[in-house]
Amino acid sequence: METVVSGIRSTGKLHLGNYYGAIQNFIKMQHEYNCYFFIADLHSLTTHPTPSDLHGNVKQVLVEYLAAGIDPEQATIYIQSDVPEVAELYLYLNMNAYLGELERATSFKDKVRANPDNVNAGLLTYPVLMAADIIIHKATKVPVGKDQEQHLEMARTFGNRFNRLYDNEYFPEPYAFSYGDKLVKIPGLDGKGKMGKSEGEGNAIYLSDSPEVIRKKVMKAVTDGGPTTENQQKPDEIQNLFDLMKVVSTDDTYNHFNNLYNTMQIRYGDLKKQLAEDMVLATAPIREKISDIANDSEYLSRVARLGADKARESARKTVSEVREIIGFRSF
Ligand code: TYM
Repeated sequence: METVVSGIRSTGKLHLGNYYGAIQNFIKMQHEYNCYFFIADLHSLTTHPTPSDLHGNVKQVLVEYLAAGIDPEQATIYIQSDVPEVAELYLYLNMNAYLGELERATSFKDKVRANPDNVNAGLLTYPVLMAADIIIHKATKVPVGKDQEQHLEMARTFGNRFNRLYDNEYFPEPYAFSYGDKLVKIPGLDGKGKMGKSEGEGNAIYLSDSPEVIRKKVMKAVTDGGPTTENQQKPDEIQNLFDLMKVVSTDDTYNHFNNLYNTMQIRYGDLKKQLAEDMVLATAPIREKISDIANDSEYLSRVARLGADKARESARKTVSEVREIIGFRSF
């Protein structure tokens, strides 16, 4: 059976981008593959969280994984820092990751632009740690959103380079995966870019947002003065609302508003109201479970322990074989 690995950074609440880009695939894949889903708390250290924020954020993601329907009996759910073998493999892979290629990564360039005062080495080697996460379980499928495609290409590069260096077909190639025909990019509500990109509260709809908060954020989304000719191309901020509608609403609803737009009869207030209600509906089953799960610390610690044991077993095997391949031998 093919192995699947994916993770989400522990930076707090999960949003609709995480859900439709990644988690929806996790939930389906857990029944079909050998799945490892983790919480990337090591990756989150690039932004220097305080100890209590770090713990709270990890817990939040764990709770939301479970509330969304990832089943710890079907998939291995674990916290990245519970598997120190990942850090060891990261070290080995770093020896064959080159400054030029790391500096060229789009996500690195974006981070440098956004935070010029915090260009740390962890940020530079972020794709190497991500490669270690994936190939430590010899995964071939990685459910992620469109924004992670380049990181997957780099993971293949690092795995293949290891194989070539040691003349050993050890690591299989991992590929980004989505059940749809292409990887998903969920836009934000601010009219520019993807959901979750900017830190502004209004850009993202979180799985834990109350219906009132969802309505308020959607009603505030940027729109324009309306179409001026029939069938005109939609400007970005309007296309974004339609893209969101495509994922949370029925085809009939989408087509209804699309026709209104094309015939210049659209009223954005009506579109936003419908979009907000469909988002409330889509997130309801998850939202309703969040607080019960968050209050069950015994369950959470059982899940985390079980996941850490299973993930470590697989990681230990890989790292001990890698050490052997590299040439570390005991006397
Ligand atoms: P992160 O934490 O930024 O995002 C987690 C997952 O959510 C997806 N995603 C989106 N998909 C569509 N539209 C959006 N607006 C959107 N925003 C986020 C991401 O594509 C991702 O699948 N580097 C990773 C975490 C990671 C990882 C890994 C993933 C660490 N190691 C190993 C896979 C395998 C990240 O920062 O994702």
